[in-house]
Amino acid sequence: MGGQTYRAIRLERIAPSFREGANIVELPLAQPGPGEITVRNLHCGVNAIFDTQVARNAVDYVKIALPTFTGVEAIGTVEAVGEGVTDFAVGDAAVTVRFTGGYREANTGPTAQFAHARTASRQYLALASTGVSALIALEQIGEVKAGETIAISAAAGGLGHFLVQLAVLKGCRVIGVAGGAEKCAFVASLGAERVIDYRSEDVGAVLAAEYPGGIDVAVDTVSGTIFDAFLANIANHGRLVVGGAAADLEGKPEIVTGPRIAHAIYYKGASVRGFMNGLLVPHWDDARTRLFKLYEEGKLHVQFDSQRNIGLEGIYDGIERLLSGKSMGKVIVDIVDGEQGE
Ligand SMILES: NC(=O)c1ccc[n+]([C@@H]2O[C@H](COP(=O)([O-])OP(=O)(O)OC[C@H]3O[C@@H](n4cnc5c(N)ncnc54)[C@H](OP(=O)(O)O)[C@@H]3O)[C@@H](O)[C@H]2O)c1
Repeated sequence: MGGQTYRAIRLERIAPSFREGANIVELPLAQPGPGEITVRNLHCGVNAIFDTQVARNAVDYVKIALPTFTGVEAIGTVEAVGEGVTDFAVGDAAVTVRFTGGYREANTGPTAQFAHARTASRQYLALASTGVSALIALEQIGEVKAGETIAISAAAGGLGHFLVQLAVLKGCRVIGVAGGAEKCAFVASLGAERVIDYRSEDVGAVLAAEYPGGIDVAVDTVSGTIFDAFLANIANHGRLVVGGAAADLEGKPEIVTGPRIAHAIYYKGASVRGFMNGLLVPHWDDARTRLFKLYEEGKLHVQFDSQRNIGLEGIYDGIERLLSGKSMGKVIVDIVDGEQGE
């Protein structure tokens, strides 16, 4: 491998957008040291809101030291193994979901940063990253139980479409919230019993009229009026899981005046809980194993956005597509323009 190079996207400066802050750089490819492997990436996943906030140095728990590599999840095939590596062999599929491992053509690092997948396909990439987030959010933070009613925002998105399916599989009644007829039809096809198009319906009014018993679990990644609607309609002992705030991307959350949140949860014995997948690493292996099995049994569908993004340059396009709010399903990039997997 001596003399080989690879390209990666590196954040060079703090900037309002990822595209303005980052450059594509070419670097020598490190040989794997003892306990390390080199993976040649085929696909990576896009986390546009996180990327944008990283470019702005606005993610509380990520300390930016410039320049920094970027991206989180990528999947590829093992190209070389270092001394003492027994759990990976050349040609194996390997997936990583660690920050700075994503937006690069190749990745050399300790085997602990990688997990096995049956093939280096887009599907296993999405399952190991966004799928894992969805399952852990539902189980560890939402503590969902069969028969409960669960509301999910951005339900047609990468995270949302997994949340909907996994909640249905758990025997929950699922209400999806999404923007536009096409997304709503997709969410219904995944098994949601009610899909609310927030562009044409008032989410709070629908929940109050059609679910007078309230929502047992809500998972919100949008914030704004959708968060308000979920909170106002939370059931006794309900859990409102906050996994993001897409509507607050500008870092200037809307200032609202109203009764403190205590009033909304106290008499109901309800709770509002933050979900941050990066703080739940001990659950990743188990979640990934179960998700792969569900997928292989044909019980879990992986939907990709229709816009195809190719090469490292395509990462910028994928980020902008996701930020437009128009994407449906998981946004990924084919780092190598070729086989798209199953
Ligand atoms: N906490 C964690 O550990 C964790 C892990 C993974 C993902 N996340 C978060 O989960 C959310 C979903 O991630 P994803 O990658 O799967 O994205 P996504 O849901 O595929 O895309 C974002 C969706 O959010 C909705 N949205 C509402 N307001 C928006 C706005 N102002 N700008 C852009 N989108 C808006 C749009 O759908 P509709 O118009 O249909 O609502 C859009 O399609 C993100 O907020 C992400 O940061 C959090």
